[in-house]
Amino acid sequence: MHSSFFISLLFFIHSSYARYEPASLESVESLRFPSLSPWPKNDMLTRRATNTTPNKSLWLLQDTYAGQTFFDDWSFYTGEDPTHGTVTFLDRPTALAQNLAYVTPDGKVIMQGDNSTWLPPGVNRSSVRIQSNKWYTGGLFILDLNRAPWGCGVWPAFWTLGASTNWPNGGEIDIIEGVHDNAHNQVTWHTLDGCTLTAPGNFTGTLVGQTTCNALINANSGCGITDWSRVSYGEEFDSQGGGIYAMKWDEQGISVWYFYRVSIPQDILDGVPDPTGWTTPSATLSSQSCDPFKYFYNHSIVFDITFCGDWAGNTYATTPGCTGTCTDHLQNPNNFVNASWNINSLKVYRKQQLVGTVSNAPRRIYESFTFTWITSICALVVLLTS
Ligand SMILES: *[C@@H]1O[C@H](CO)[C@@H](O)[C@H](O)[C@H]1NC(C)=O
Ligand SMILES: *[C@@H]1O[C@H](CO)[C@@H](O)[C@H](O)[C@H]1NC(C)=O
Ligand SMILES: *[C@@H]1O[C@H](CO)[C@@H](O)[C@H](O)[C@H]1NC(C)=O
Ligand SMILES: *[C@@H]1O[C@H](CO)[C@@H](O)[C@H](O)[C@H]1NC(C)=O
Ligand SMILES: *[C@@H]1O[C@H](CO)[C@@H](O)[C@H](O)[C@H]1NC(C)=O
Ligand SMILES: *[C@@H]1O[C@H](CO)[C@@H](O)[C@H](O)[C@H]1NC(C)=O
Repeated sequence: MHSSFFISLLFFIHSSYARYEPASLESVESLRFPSLSPWPKNDMLTRRATNTTPNKSLWLLQDTYAGQTFFDDWSFYTGEDPTHGTVTFLDRPTALAQNLAYVTPDGKVIMQGDNSTWLPPGVNRSSVRIQSNKWYTGGLFILDLNRAPWGCGVWPAFWTLGASTNWPNGGEIDIIEGVHDNAHNQVTWHTLDGCTLTAPGNFTGTLVGQTTCNALINANSGCGITDWSRVSYGEEFDSQGGGIYAMKWDEQGISVWYFYRVSIPQDILDGVPDPTGWTTPSATLSSQSCDPFKYFYNHSIVFDITFCGDWAGNTYATTPGCTGTCTDHLQNPNNFVNASWNINSLKVYRKQQLVGTVSNAPRRIYESFTFTWITSICALVVLLTS
């Protein structure tokens, strides 16, 4: 009677304190979160605080571009195509009126080239080029898309561009880009002199040519990497439902991932992306050989579709799948039925460092796990010797 009471008490003391382990868990109190509400506080903000734990980081949602209001946050570029495409970029009212930019009733964002007008030779085909009104220096950019434009003579890009008018000051990051019936996406960086790509490096793709990213030499080619996947661009990309392109720009450098729709990481679907758990990127520009904030800053995000021009025009004749000349090809609207973007969302996350400092709040001794064990053992000794 007497001893079973002590043993029960002992188990009660032990289990009730052991469950919490309060001495080894600390909430990180040095965070400066403006909005904590969407975050599961205990899971995300509580960590083991020891002196050897490295700092961690979280990516917090900053901007969502999606749905019926998508075009409100973008400007329609109407200047000449700097890459000399046979294209006219329409202003917002004209693009909307001609259905080259619209949002479907179920929220899919469409941008496309004109697929209905027959043109005389050499006349520009209408298309769209938009840029975000916001600028970013660093971030995690996650594009969920069902289709990207492709076809002979077609040259689309999803990219970010420094706000400086003096290109390539501020740099350029081409995330999705290709021409004709390409199957492998190409990621390219264009910078001032001094930035180079470390290859081989932490990426699965193939170096295109030079490792210098200097945009001012070798016909502005920059430094590029093609995706190893045969479905990262073009017909197969579209036919298997697109997927996710993610671009991470932080102090480690700039990396791009492509995820098939069937293999999107769960943390992306959950809205709490954690690139540290993802596979090796398709393409990486390491900070070891290029300062990601010296050569890249103040970027707006751009989507465009151009035709022929410096890349698609100059490579047309040597592309086996494309017949005739790019100029001839451009006349027939039926050649441009696949020249369209179909986007579910573009989300931009910003990095929040979790600094590994330990709270100095005084801790009451009876909360200690060790204390619980010591009292339990003492109680057992008292019990057995009585
Ligand atoms: C964590 O971040 C703080 C503040 O930026 C820095 O002083 C400290 O060295 C970092 N610790 C580690 C382990 O990286
Ligand atoms: C057609 O495009 C070219 C190159 O982008 C441009 O120089 C020209 O002004 C355009 N022509 C018309 C009629 O818009
Ligand atoms: C590749 O990743 C490893 C592990 O994170 C790192 O130590 C190394 O410096 C990286 N290499 C480059 C070229 O960035
Ligand atoms: C980036 O843009 C901001 C806001 O306009 C400006 O204050 C800043 O000087 C720019 N940064 C650089 C490096 O040009
Ligand atoms: C458009 O895509 C469909 C489906 O992949 C393909 O059969 C067709 O040949 C393409 N047309 C053009 C002009 O690229
Ligand atoms: C051409 O564009 C219109 C407007 O977006 C679209 O409804 C139509 O399906 C396109 N035509 C073809 C043949 O894809």
